[in-house]
Amino acid sequence: MDRNVTSIDFSNHFRTIPAADVLLASQFAMIGAVCVKEVDLTRNQYISIQSGGINLMKHKNCLEKLILKENSIWGDRSLAIEMVKLVNLRWLDISNQATLHVKNKTNKNKTDVRRLDKTDTNYFSDRLTFVFQLPHNLQYIDASYFGGRKTGLININFTNAGKLDFLNLAGNKFVDCLGHFHGLSHLQTLDISDFNCSDLDLKMISFMPYLKTLISRRTHLNVGLQNDVKGEFLKQLFGLKLIDFSENEFVTFNKHMFVSQYRSLISLDLSKNIFSKFLIPISKFSTLKKLSLVQNRIAFLQKSDMNQLENYQRDKHINFELLLNDNNFVCNFDSIDFVRWLQETKVTLDNNRNYSCVYIDNSKKTTVYAYTHLDFIESKCLSKIWLTISIIVVVVFLLLCTASSLAYKYRITLHFWYLHIRRKYRHYTALGGDSKEYKYNAFVAYCNEDEEWVCGSLVNYLEKTNGYAIEILQLGGSLWIIS
Ligand SMILES: *[C@@H]1O[C@H](CO)[C@@H](O)[C@H](O)[C@H]1NC(C)=O
Ligand SMILES: *[C@@H]1O[C@H](CO)[C@@H](O)[C@H](O)[C@H]1NC(C)=O
Ligand SMILES: *[C@@H]1O[C@H](CO)[C@@H](O)[C@H](O)[C@H]1NC(C)=O
Ligand SMILES: *[C@@H]1O[C@H](CO)[C@@H](O)[C@H](O)[C@H]1NC(C)=O
Ligand SMILES: *[C@@H]1O[C@H](CO)[C@@H](O)[C@H](O)[C@H]1NC(C)=O
Ligand SMILES: *[C@@H]1O[C@H](CO)[C@@H](O)[C@H](O)[C@H]1NC(C)=O
Repeated sequence: MDRNVTSIDFSNHFRTIPAADVLLASQFAMIGAVCVKEVDLTRNQYISIQSGGINLMKHKNCLEKLILKENSIWGDRSLAIEMVKLVNLRWLDISNQATLHVKNKTNKNKTDVRRLDKTDTNYFSDRLTFVFQLPHNLQYIDASYFGGRKTGLININFTNAGKLDFLNLAGNKFVDCLGHFHGLSHLQTLDISDFNCSDLDLKMISFMPYLKTLISRRTHLNVGLQNDVKGEFLKQLFGLKLIDFSENEFVTFNKHMFVSQYRSLISLDLSKNIFSKFLIPISKFSTLKKLSLVQNRIAFLQKSDMNQLENYQRDKHINFELLLNDNNFVCNFDSIDFVRWLQETKVTLDNNRNYSCVYIDNSKKTTVYAYTHLDFIESKCLSKIWLTISIIVVVVFLLLCTASSLAYKYRITLHFWYLHIRRKYRHYTALGGDSKEYKYNAFVAYCNEDEEWVCGSLVNYLEKTNGYAIEILQLGGSLWIIS
C-alpha cells in the first residue's frame, strides 16, 4: 500500500467456470490503495463495476491508464460520472465488451445497467444534447466494440475534453448518425466505423477543427452522403490528413466532397467500394501521397487519368503511391495503354505491378503477362479489326451484286414503275401547238381478252358519240390507256 507502482497486470484472472463477475467497490478501493499508474483488467468476465469504488480509491490521482477491455461490461452511467474523479487518467480502454459470457447467468435484466437504457433513449429521441463529462486529462479513449445497443446517435457535448486526441467508437452499431459531437476541440483521431450513417447529420463531425484522421469503414456513407452536394460533411476540416472511407459501397461521389482537404490530405483509402472509374480529381490535391482503390471494380484507367497521375507526380514532386490490387482489370485492346502504363509509370504501385486481369481470350492472366505479350494483343486486335472490315466489305459487295442482278432481271417492271410514279407526280400538261397537227385524239393499247369491249363499246362511245379519233393496238398483256 501507498507504494509507487508503474503497472499492475490483473488480466486474464477470470474463474475457469463460465461465470461473470462484478468488480466490487471494495476491490477498486484496494487497487487505489497503491499509487499505481497503470491497471490492466483485461479479460476478467466482468459485467459491471460497482459504483462507489473510484470514490474510495486513496490514490486515485496516480491512475493514468485503465484497461478494461474484453470484459462484458454494460456501460453504467454512474461509473462514467465517477470516472471524472480520476483526474490524471490519460488512457482509457473499454473496448471489446462481449455479451457472450454473460448471457442469462447473472443478469437477466441487462437494460437496468445500460448507460443508455430505454428511458434514456426515449428521453434523447428529440435530439437534445447529452452532456458527457470526461476526466480532464484524458487523451485516449478506445470504446470500440463497446456494446451492441440498437440506438441512434444523439448530440453529445463532451466537457473537459480539451486534451482528448483519440476517440475510437468503431464497432458500435448505432442505427443512425443523426447527432453531432461538441466539445472535442482537440480531437485528432476519430473512428466511427460500423455506425449506420444512411441517415446522417452532415454536421456530425463538423466541430472538430483539429481532426487529422477520420476512419469511417462500413458506415453506408454512399447513402448518407448522396444528397450532400455541397460537401458539407467534411467542410472546414482543413487539417484532415488521413481519410478511410473503405467499404462504403461508393459507386461515385460528389466532386466537392474533399474540397477542404485539397491542401492537407496525405492518404485516402477508398478500398472495397464499387467504383468502376477513377474519380479522384488528383490534380487538385497538393499533398496526397497515397490512394487506395484496392477491391473496386475498375476495368482500366483512361488515358486522361494516367496523364493526370503522371503530371501530379511530376509537378508536385511527390512520390505518389497508388494501390490497385483486386480490381476487375481487363487486358485487351482497349486497355493496352493502361497495361503499358502500369509497367512504365514512375507512380509507385502495389502487388509488384502484377495484377490479375481478364485476357483477350477471356482467360485469367496478369498484367505483367499481358505486358510481355503486348504485340500479340495488338496483332490479335488488329487482325480482328481487319477481319471486321473485310466482312463488312464482302457483305456490302454481295448486297450490291444481288441488288443489281435483281434490278437487271426486273428492269422492265422497274422502268414501268418509274414511269407510273413519274406520271403520278407530274400533272397532265396539254400538248403545245395546234391540236389539228395530230391525227388521233387518243391511243388505246389492249390485250386479247379485252378486244371485244375496246373495239366495240369503247371505240363506239368515243368515236361515234363524242367524235374523237382513236388509234388502237393489241398487246399481249392487260389493257392500259395512255391518254
Ligand atoms: C511516489 O512518487 C511521488 C512522485 O511521483 C513522490 O513524491 C513520492 O514520494 C513517491 N512515494 C514513494 C513511496 O516512493
Ligand atoms: C437464456 O434464458 C432463456 C430462458 O430463461 C433460455 O431459453 C435460453 O436458452 C438462455 N440462453 C442461454 C444462452 O443460456
Ligand atoms: C427484471 O425486471 C423486471 C421488471 O423490470 C422485474 O420484475 C424482475 O424481477 C427483474 N428480474 C431480475 C432477475 O432482476
Ligand atoms: C456544452 O456544455 C458546456 C458545459 O455545460 C456548455 O458551456 C457549452 O455551451 C455546451 N456546448 C454546446 C454546443 O452545447
Ligand atoms: C441502415 O439504416 C437504413 C435506414 O435506416 C436501413 O434501411 C438499413 O437497413 C440499415 N442498414 C443496416 C445494415 O442496418
Ligand atoms: C505475376 O503474378 C503471377 C500470378 O500471381 C505469377 O505467376 C507471376 O510470376 C508474377 N509475375 C511477376 C513478374 O511477378
